[in-house]
Amino acid sequence: MEQAEIGLIGLAVMGSNLALNIAEKGNRIAVFNRSPDKTDTFYAEAGDLRDRIIPCKTMEEFVASIRPPRPVIIMVQAGAPVDQVMEGLKKDLSAGDIIIDAGNANFRDTIRRFDSLKDSGLTFIGMGVSGGEEGARHGPSIMVGGTEESYKRVEKVLTSISAKFKGEDCCAWLGENGAGHFVKTIHNGIEYADMQMIAEIYGILRDGLGLSAKECSDIFGKWNKGRLESYLIEISELVLSKNDPISGKPMVDMIVDKAGQKGTGKWSAIEAQNMGVPATGIEAAVAARSLSSFKKQREHAETVLGLPSAEQIKSIDRNQLISDLELALLAGKIGAYAQGFAVMTEASKEFGWSLPMPTIAQIWRAGCIIRSQFLDDITSAFRAMPDADNLVITPTFAALVKETDGALRRVVSTAALNGLAVPALASALGYFDSYRRGRGTANLIQAQRDFFGAHGFDRVDGVDKHHGPWGSGLADFA
Ligand code: 6PG
Repeated sequence: MEQAEIGLIGLAVMGSNLALNIAEKGNRIAVFNRSPDKTDTFYAEAGDLRDRIIPCKTMEEFVASIRPPRPVIIMVQAGAPVDQVMEGLKKDLSAGDIIIDAGNANFRDTIRRFDSLKDSGLTFIGMGVSGGEEGARHGPSIMVGGTEESYKRVEKVLTSISAKFKGEDCCAWLGENGAGHFVKTIHNGIEYADMQMIAEIYGILRDGLGLSAKECSDIFGKWNKGRLESYLIEISELVLSKNDPISGKPMVDMIVDKAGQKGTGKWSAIEAQNMGVPATGIEAAVAARSLSSFKKQREHAETVLGLPSAEQIKSIDRNQLISDLELALLAGKIGAYAQGFAVMTEASKEFGWSLPMPTIAQIWRAGCIIRSQFLDDITSAFRAMPDADNLVITPTFAALVKETDGALRRVVSTAALNGLAVPALASALGYFDSYRRGRGTANLIQAQRDFFGAHGFDRVDGVDKHHGPWGSGLADFA
C-alpha cells in the first residue's frame, strides 16, 4: 500500500480535525490513538476521506506506514503527555524522522525537547496551530519552529492545510527550536488582551449605558464592517445575540463571570517580564481573568465598598461615546499588538531566532483567533519598515495613534469617572503616554535608588559623577 506523507498521534477533537484537513487536501495520512476504539470511530466517520487515511493499531504499524524521513504530528494535551508519547515513539523511529508537537506547548519545553533529540538522529518541530477546532479542520494559522531542513520535509503538507489570505499561505517557518511555540504563545497573549479590551468596552455599554446584550451585539456588528473587522468582534456580535434555550434570556447574561485560562497568556506576560519588555495589555488581561475568578470576594467587596456612581456618563452624548468606544478599542489594540511584537523582537535577539515580523503578521491575517483586517495593516507596516523598534513609530500606526488616542483618553477617563473597570484600555493609554515622552520621571527613581542604596545614576550632561549630594539623608527624620 502507498505510504503516508505524514502521521498523526492523538485523535481528540483537534487531532481528528487536523487529520481530516490533511487528508482532504490530498495528502495520505497514518493515524494512531492510544485507545484503538477512537481510531476505529474516527476512521468510520471519515467518509470519502478514508481512501487517504491509514488507521493504525500499533506503533510499529503506524511508523511503517509513513514515508521516511517520517514526520509525525503529536496532538495530545500539552505537558507531560507529550514527553510520554515522544518516549514511546522514539524507539520505533529512525534517523532523519521528525517529531512535531502541534499542541500549545511552553516554548521552553520545546527547546528542551529539541535539544534532547540532538544526538538521536531524530529532529523536533514545535508547531503553533491557531484557529480552534474549526481552524484545525478547515485552515489554521501555522507557526513552525525547528530546523529549516525539517520544515522543508513538511512544508508541502502544512501549506496545503493552512488558511490563506488573498492567496498567501498562513503558514511559515519562523526559526529554530522554540520559535514557533514562542510566537504562538505571544499570539495567545495578544488574544487575551484583545478579548479583555472587547469585554471592557462591553462593560461600558452594559453597565454605563445600560444597553441590552442585543444592543451591544448590534454595535459590534456595525464595528465589524469597519476598521475593527476581526474574528473576535464577529464572534462577540454573535454570542451577544443568542438567547439561552433554557431561560429565554440572553445567553451571555446566564454565564458566570469567571474566566478560565490555560497558561499561554501568563507565559507571555512572564517572558515579557523576564526580558524587561513592557507587555502591560497582556498583563492586565491575565490579571483581569485572575480577578474574575475571585467571584465570592468580589461579591462581598461590593457589599462592603459599594459601587461608584455611574451618573456622569448620562451627561455624555451617547452616539459620541459609542463612536469614541470604537476608536478607543482600535487604539487599545495598537498598544497590545505593539507590545506583543516588541516582546517578539527582543526574544528574537535573546534566543537567536531572527523572527521575521512581517511574516508573523502575514500568517496571522487568516486562520487564527486574532485574524483581522488590522493584521493586514501591520503586515504592510512591517514590510515597509521590518526593523522598526516598535509598531507605533511606523508611519501608518503613528498616524493611527494620533487619530485614536483622543478617543482612548476620553473613554478611559469616562470609565474612571463612572467606576467602570478598564484595566487593559487604561494600560494602553499609560503605555502610549510613557513611550512617547522623551523625558520621563525615572530620574526621581534613580535619585531615590542612589539615596538609599548608592546605586548610582547617569547625568544628563554626561559628566562622570554618578552619586548625589545626599549627605546624611534621614537625620532630620530621626
Ligand atoms: C487558538 C487559541 C487556542 C485556545 C487557547 C485558549 O489560537 O486557537 O488560542 O490555542 O483556545 O488555548 O486559551 P485559554 O483557555 O487560556 O483562554
